Amino acid sequence: MQKNIDPEVIKSVTRLREALHRHGYRYYVLDDPEISDAEYDRMMQELIRLETNYPGLSSPDSPTLRVGAPPLDKFETVAHSIPMLSLDNGFSDADIFEFDLRVKRSLDTDDAILYTAEPKLDGVAVELVYENGRLISASTRGDGFSGELITSNVRTIRSVPMVLETGKGRKNPSLLEIRGEIFIGKEGFKRLNDRRLDQNLPPFANPRNAAAGSLRQLDSRITAERPLEIFFYGIGRVADLDLESHGDTLQALQELGFRINPNIRSKITIEAAIDCYRDLSERRNLLPYDIDGMVIKVDSLGFQRLLGATSRSPRWAIAYKFKALQETTRVIDIAVQVGRTGTLTPVAHLSPVRIGGVTVGRATLHNEDEIRRKDVRIGDTVLVQRAGDVIPEIVKVITSKRTGAEKIFKMPLNCPVCNSPVVRARDEAVLRCLDVSCPAQIKQRIKHFASKGAFDIDGLGDKLIEQLVDKDLLFSYADIFRLKEDTLKNLERMGSKSAANILNAIEASKPITFGRFLYALGIRHAGEHVAGILARTFGRLEVLMNTTPDELEAIEGVGPVVAESVVSFFATAENRKIVGEIITRGVQILGEGVQGAGTLSGKVFVLTGTLPTLTRDEAKERIEKAGGRVTGSVSRNTDYLVAGASPGSKLERAEALGVDIIDEETLMRLMIEDR
Ligand code: IVH
Repeated sequence: MQKNIDPEVIKSVTRLREALHRHGYRYYVLDDPEISDAEYDRMMQELIRLETNYPGLSSPDSPTLRVGAPPLDKFETVAHSIPMLSLDNGFSDADIFEFDLRVKRSLDTDDAILYTAEPKLDGVAVELVYENGRLISASTRGDGFSGELITSNVRTIRSVPMVLETGKGRKNPSLLEIRGEIFIGKEGFKRLNDRRLDQNLPPFANPRNAAAGSLRQLDSRITAERPLEIFFYGIGRVADLDLESHGDTLQALQELGFRINPNIRSKITIEAAIDCYRDLSERRNLLPYDIDGMVIKVDSLGFQRLLGATSRSPRWAIAYKFKALQETTRVIDIAVQVGRTGTLTPVAHLSPVRIGGVTVGRATLHNEDEIRRKDVRIGDTVLVQRAGDVIPEIVKVITSKRTGAEKIFKMPLNCPVCNSPVVRARDEAVLRCLDVSCPAQIKQRIKHFASKGAFDIDGLGDKLIEQLVDKDLLFSYADIFRLKEDTLKNLERMGSKSAANILNAIEASKPITFGRFLYALGIRHAGEHVAGILARTFGRLEVLMNTTPDELEAIEGVGPVVAESVVSFFATAENRKIVGEIITRGVQILGEGVQGAGTLSGKVFVLTGTLPTLTRDEAKERIEKAGGRVTGSVSRNTDYLVAGASPGSKLERAEALGVDIIDEETLMRLMIEDR
């Protein structure tokens, strides 16, 4: 760190870095956060601000690098000091027993061998190098001998430690080459693809491709926006760690702060490993990420060394692969679905088939071009694939099964729901129904409005929404807030109790952050991400409703297409009316007016002791910005005493007067502009 920088600034930077490392670890590795996301973001923004103002304070392991570094021209190639091998595959219990026999034969023993069983993640293999506890580099597996240097990209993954934990009594190893699998979870994948569709970008075919594509970005700021995760499963070279078994290794790695898959079983017999495989294949759909099998590894590192490797794979491990998630079946029909923004999507109705424990009866065909490209016809026998939670897809037609009776499908000229003519916009692959009052669109808009990332109304599910629209009880999402118990309880599969529950859920959804509110409106091209940007930039609905395309385009992350779509949404009289109805029916946008009146408006604060991240002046400035006042001594008029370490006599006085005593974190919560 540089001299002649105010020591207070250096202290703040150090404190923020420590706090961000600690909270990042709690959140992303332990899955046990102590502070809110908004608080974490706020600290990050503050650190970015300080590092920008004082470039001399930058550091290769600062948490700010998590948001990405300037783009590269190309990736450098680096050699792995120990090759990253592949794995042999097994497909049946017999293959696994044979593997166990081979191991015993090579070790010349009849004794039972102990193994570790681990889920086999379907992602991208990487190697990270730590020197004296600091992340130095990260590379892809490449051809096994050398890969591409993707350090900046890997730094953006929140669960990758930049510095290692030494809290559990572990010393930092002077060298640690650690290996793991980078992946995108099912939920993250869905959101990522929804966002891409919103932005008119082609969706990723599966989470693996999405993870690989995200790591291949030369601009790590793009990678930083992708929901990448990692599980570590092994090591290359290592110094100073005394390890005897693979199980110990994983334990040690976990203690150093690395994220290890919780579904790993260590020191088990081959029979128990096979039981694990059964159990895992049954639970596979419930896991939040895709796995394609289970890796069985000889647990003893001594045995591993004795067994060695072929040029391709180690002799001490085998991947017990799951049954393929592909099946053949017949296309009974092709139907057309109408989406929220009027897009017509062809969907294949299949003769139901079990794929990986789930019955599949439909597969998306995306659009007309896709049907032509794959030449899917009604009556065809097709290969269907299910990847994770993604809607099943047709991989290809088995043309040898054609009889000549198959029928070529043509997209309709009119909307199959409201019969208005459909159009194909220039530069678009999809057909659209332009009638905004088309019941199909109304249903989809309301479903979107009530969905998880939006108003998140428990109990107001798809079937119920369809019923309500079909019975002319809902015409727009604003009507949700007019529903009465009498109306609801007379519907199918409803009673007074469920009706009351739904009304409670509707009521509970009314206080909503501005970002979610905007997302819920279903403005084209304004997915969760863009809605968040708009909420943060405009702060108030009224301001956003009256903005111009130029103002919008000036915002980073908002392009002309989004700008046009937002402006035209709010320029439409019908939309303005519906938005007005939502507000008059009691929806309350949280944080509205934060910039003016402030969340702490009228509140009187006193500060005492040393706060963990803020200096006194910073705390005062923030409180005042949020509309509060800071005074020097505790009186009956004091609303809150903010107490840090080694508080003074103010604490006793506050206790005596019954003044609320809070810590810095609670103060931050009070101020959060969580939209
Ligand atoms: S161990 C030398 N463990 O599978 C053995 N690999 O087919 C190295 N993989 O390239 C691999 N989960 O990308 C191991 N728990 C796990 C794994 C795993 C996924 C991937 C890894 C490797 C590929 C080999």
